[in-house]
Amino acid sequence: MNTEVLKISPDAPEPEAMRKAARVIAGGGLVAFPTETVYGLGADAFNRAAFEGIYRAKGRPADNPLIMHIADASRLDALAAEIPDCARAFAKAFWPGPLTMVFRKDPSLPDWMSAGLKTISVRMPSSLVARRLIERSGCVIAAPSANSSGKPSPTNAARVYEDLNGKIDMILDGGPAEVGLESTVLDVSAAAEGAAPVILRPGAVTKEMLEAVCGLEVRLFAGESPERPASPGMKYRHYAPKAEVVVVAGELDKIVWKINALVSETACKTGILATDETAAFYDSAKSAVISAGSRARPETVAAGLFEALRRFDEAGAAVVYAEALPEDGIGAAIMNRMVKAAGGRVVKA
Ligand code: TXA
Ligand code: MG
Repeated sequence: MNTEVLKISPDAPEPEAMRKAARVIAGGGLVAFPTETVYGLGADAFNRAAFEGIYRAKGRPADNPLIMHIADASRLDALAAEIPDCARAFAKAFWPGPLTMVFRKDPSLPDWMSAGLKTISVRMPSSLVARRLIERSGCVIAAPSANSSGKPSPTNAARVYEDLNGKIDMILDGGPAEVGLESTVLDVSAAAEGAAPVILRPGAVTKEMLEAVCGLEVRLFAGESPERPASPGMKYRHYAPKAEVVVVAGELDKIVWKINALVSETACKTGILATDETAAFYDSAKSAVISAGSRARPETVAAGLFEALRRFDEAGAAVVYAEALPEDGIGAAIMNRMVKAAGGRVVKA
């Protein structure tokens, strides 16, 4: 398959290009497109062949469900069996934006649309390109992140091309994704019975932000295990470069000292996932030193993390030592992805 790449202005998407992409979606094709979080790989959610094509292109396990992307809140009624009051409040506060909510699915939806689950996840992205694509196609767009399964999510069109060229119809190149980490996934499916909403995947919409809106406790899913994953996608090795990643946690000066000690003990090619404030403290003759962003502005680390992980592969690093960040605010989402990339390996400095 020939994959067409179209450049698109993120602030003023060209109508002609958008019409072309929307025709591909409506015709059952696959289009990768920018969202404010990461790039998504979209198809008409109600077209079974197109829907299954997403799994084939990504090499995604069949039991991992997709997020339904909408541009108009009224579309939610046809997807969710019920919309709890707290979900309405969250939608009002954070849609369009990087929040996905898991609802009981409407009984009219076919089983294949939800990987056999009784729930369905829905998100309204804020990216103008994503919204125009949804509106112009007239479809609900099912879209996972536009990476090959197992790789870090792509935050720019070049990484989508690297993974999916030849496997999908079109890539809309709207520049780098703003947030850089996937949306917060919030389970509200039992909220109508009074159960607390549960964050299955932390993201840019934080627990603190959600609690401030609803005045209720919002839980962070804690009981993750291979048998009982937070959400089906969480049980797969994710976000991981080919290198073995080790997160180093503690006070910042001790982290730097510990990483330098670890590098000198490591015989194979090393990488260091640093920050703007610390990068100069490492020997770039010994290791590939890559800064994800600035500690003073953790949102820049969020935006740079996945690209940094992919660059370690290009640098041929076999082991990557990664500096931990404080876990407040967006830090919770950053550390969630970093520890996942490390397969849980965290050492104390
Ligand atoms: O920011 C994002 O969410 C991006 C952009 C493209 O919207 N999409 C994304 O999709 O990250 P994906 O498929 O890579 O991740 C979706 C996550 C997976 O871990 C999946 O298991 C979980 O959401 N999920 C989807 N439907 C679910 C459901 N009904 N119940 C529990 N978890 C669900
Ligand atoms: Mg993904």
